[in-house]
Amino acid sequence: MNKPKILVACPIFDDVLAALREHFEVTDNQNGTSWTKAEWTQRLAGHVGALTVGANPVDAEVLAANPQLRIVANMAVGYNNFDVPAMTAAGVLATNTPDVLTETTADFGFALLMATARRMAESEHYLRAGLWQNWRYDMFAGAEVHGSTLGIIGMGRIGQGIARRAAHGFGMKVVYHNRSRLSAELEADCKARYVSKEELLKTVDHVMLVVPYSAESHHTIGAAELSLMKPTATLVNIARGGIVDDAALAVALREKRIAAAGLDVFEGEPAVHPDLLTVPNVVLTPHIASATIKTRRAMAQLAADNLIAYFTQGQAVTPLNTVTGRPA
Ligand code: GLV
Repeated sequence: MNKPKILVACPIFDDVLAALREHFEVTDNQNGTSWTKAEWTQRLAGHVGALTVGANPVDAEVLAANPQLRIVANMAVGYNNFDVPAMTAAGVLATNTPDVLTETTADFGFALLMATARRMAESEHYLRAGLWQNWRYDMFAGAEVHGSTLGIIGMGRIGQGIARRAAHGFGMKVVYHNRSRLSAELEADCKARYVSKEELLKTVDHVMLVVPYSAESHHTIGAAELSLMKPTATLVNIARGGIVDDAALAVALREKRIAAAGLDVFEGEPAVHPDLLTVPNVVLTPHIASATIKTRRAMAQLAADNLIAYFTQGQAVTPLNTVTGRPA
């Protein structure tokens, strides 16, 4: 019997790919070629499943061009590259990779907070450039992390992981803003107090963004929000590009309206706003918050398991929607 054809749109671990080949006829992209939306849409032709990352959009247009498609498994917890209602209407199952990356991503959020507050990238560039001549009391003096106040916008699993690290490990006061308030038990566990977005921005020493991207969360932080922050405050974005207005942030950083920022995600990535590349008080990393070998393996495995479970048992492991089969 012919195996179902799937397209693995990104490079993944060789053994996970080999496991997929046991069940599917696989088209891979192990050399990581970037495709335009038109190329991606065309490459999907003839495939009933796909394993994707954020660079691969699945919307009404892609779906209309690929009526054979049954399932798309994102190798990410975020899925703003999917139009889930359009996928549901087209009878296409959507899956993501929750839970397996929570603690690793929270570690990275905290690392980026530390690097940003303590000016690690800026000082490292200075040293590498051979500029270090002597010791000065104010050389790369940054902001305190322990005992300071952290404001988290987006208090899902990753936000909660960061809150626990901050409150239990660093004695920080934690406030948060979220679409819905956490239960009293979770608030106590995270030692976090719910506040309005405005109060959070006006009062905290460090702002951490962990909110999923949607039309509503687009530019959660723009010029108006940046102007509410303390001039000594830092901003970290490990959520998604587009949550921050990067052009407005570059201006605020250059004019020292806030002290510093740490960014793992960018509007229009892998392109980075050119003004962010020239301001010194920002730490820039290429969307690597979940990047440990162990976690990336778990993400690849879960995405693969979703495809295998769907085609062998008719049910995915971590579905985002419920479908009854694609209309003819
Ligand atoms: C990474 O950004 C993810 O959503 O998993």
